[in-house]
Amino acid sequence: MVLGMITQANIILIGPMGSGKSSVGKQLAEKLHRSFFDSDIEIEKSTGVKIPLIFELEGENGFRKRETQTLKKLVRKKQIILATGGGAIIREYNRQLLQNNGIIVYLLTSIDTILERTKWDQNRPLLQTENPRLKLESLMKSRAPLYENLAQLTVATDNRTLQEVVESIIDNLT
Ligand code: S3P
Repeated sequence: MVLGMITQANIILIGPMGSGKSSVGKQLAEKLHRSFFDSDIEIEKSTGVKIPLIFELEGENGFRKRETQTLKKLVRKKQIILATGGGAIIREYNRQLLQNNGIIVYLLTSIDTILERTKWDQNRPLLQTENPRLKLESLMKSRAPLYENLAQLTVATDNRTLQEVVESIIDNLT
């Protein structure tokens, strides 16, 4: 049980690309009768373009600025389920923001699983490289400790169905 705060707090999903934050978030929101927001989708809505184009035009740094602005707006909402982008935890500012505004759930996922789930995906600019495994290894080396430290609850997603992951979150938070 984490704090027994499920009826009050925002639930914020963190984890790498392909960990299932958006799919899990949507289903969790349905089950708990909450609203669901996905920070990447909000960025796409506010700019009117897809994320790869933002990376192309403004670089990763430009995207990160937009991501922080979007997270700031989203965490003001109450009792929502929020799916963050895989890199949202890089900035110290964002980590504080998330920590102060919800229960943080980390969807722990292996690199093999991430690769399997993202192999046909062209909407993730960081993985459009010759060797996505190498890229993910390097990202996870710096990011995994941040995910771990930030999370109040960690749920493994490898070899588990969406349903199982969602149930596990609900069981642990209520
Ligand atoms: C990113 C993850 C993506 C998106 C962007 C950068 C990252 O979100 O924010 O492509 O740095 O890991 P998902 O985790 O939803 O794929």
